[in-house]
Amino acid sequence: MHVFVTGASGHVGSAVVPELLAAGHRVVGLARSEAAVDRLAAAGAEAHRGDLEDLDGLRAAASAADGVIHLAFRHDLMQAGDMAGAAGVDLTAIRAIADAVAGTGKPFVGTSGTLLLALMSPGTVGTEEDAGDGGFRVDAENFVIGLAERGVRSSVVRLPPTVHSQLDRTGFVPHLIATARDRGFAACVGDGANRWSAVHSLDAAHLCRLALEQAPAGSRLHAVGDEGVPFAVIAETIGRALGVPVRRLEADDAAGYFGFLAPFVQLDGPASSARTQQLLGWRPERPGLIADLEEGHYFRTGS
Ligand SMILES: NC(=O)c1ccc[n+]([C@@H]2O[C@H](COP(=O)([O-])OP(=O)(O)OC[C@H]3O[C@@H](n4cnc5c(N)ncnc54)[C@H](OP(=O)(O)O)[C@@H]3O)[C@@H](O)[C@H]2O)c1
Repeated sequence: MHVFVTGASGHVGSAVVPELLAAGHRVVGLARSEAAVDRLAAAGAEAHRGDLEDLDGLRAAASAADGVIHLAFRHDLMQAGDMAGAAGVDLTAIRAIADAVAGTGKPFVGTSGTLLLALMSPGTVGTEEDAGDGGFRVDAENFVIGLAERGVRSSVVRLPPTVHSQLDRTGFVPHLIATARDRGFAACVGDGANRWSAVHSLDAAHLCRLALEQAPAGSRLHAVGDEGVPFAVIAETIGRALGVPVRRLEADDAAGYFGFLAPFVQLDGPASSARTQQLLGWRPERPGLIADLEEGHYFRTGS
């Protein structure tokens, strides 16, 4: 299959591209810089020059492809606190891709996050059946799922807040480690009993490929390996590896320590992938989050 991948040069993309190529697909990645073009070429993929706001370019690349995996996201806006801006660019880009694939039966894999489940189904282990009415990223998720009614084999892969591996240079885990190193202590909010789900990058990439190849139209899929790791355990593991203490912060002090991550580190968002595993035969096989942290690579790379 000729697959157009946005965000192919990012963290998850750097696992998805080799996963697709190894399965015999041809990959054309969206590249907004020469550096991204070079990264894709080194991986054996082709580049479509353009960015998320080049809507004609997105339509052309999606039209030329047999399927689309959409991974690009304006994390720069999100980290600056402009969640609405990041979500707006995402939804506009998705609408452009949808223009090109509607009525074709082509697969379109979108991405979202399992932390949304903390808000959709608070106090429970979130499942693929949970869906929100609207809001940050939920609108995009619902739009992609709705494309099933417009002749698209659409699916959404929800990724945990910690997609972890040696490929992870800029995700939440490196950010937590850098903060603990800078501040001289690791931290959680309150007792840190709130849980984050997690998945290894290579397992996530495998699920993205299976979604492209097999997911029935309108599927919500969970790329979840660890259902729920208590945040205090993440903080303790980071503290131990860095040789710094762990402090339990009051909610009012969270923003001063965690910055843009403050709202996320307080969410309790355990999630199950049982239905995804049953539907697609996917199994998370790589190390879990704590084993991956204890392996030490996050701390050797100066993250
Ligand atoms: N990793 C996680 O832990 C996690 C958790 C939950 C959800 N997700 C979601 O999964 C998807 C992939 O995440 P990721 O971790 O791979 O993100 P990432 O490492 O930050 O990569 C983002 C990708 O988007 C591209 N991009 C950003 N702005 C762009 C623009 N204006 N035009 C074109 N491309 C642009 C980047 O291009 P450059 O290479 O040129 O910078 C990069 O390829 C995102 O939707 C993310 O929100 C990830």
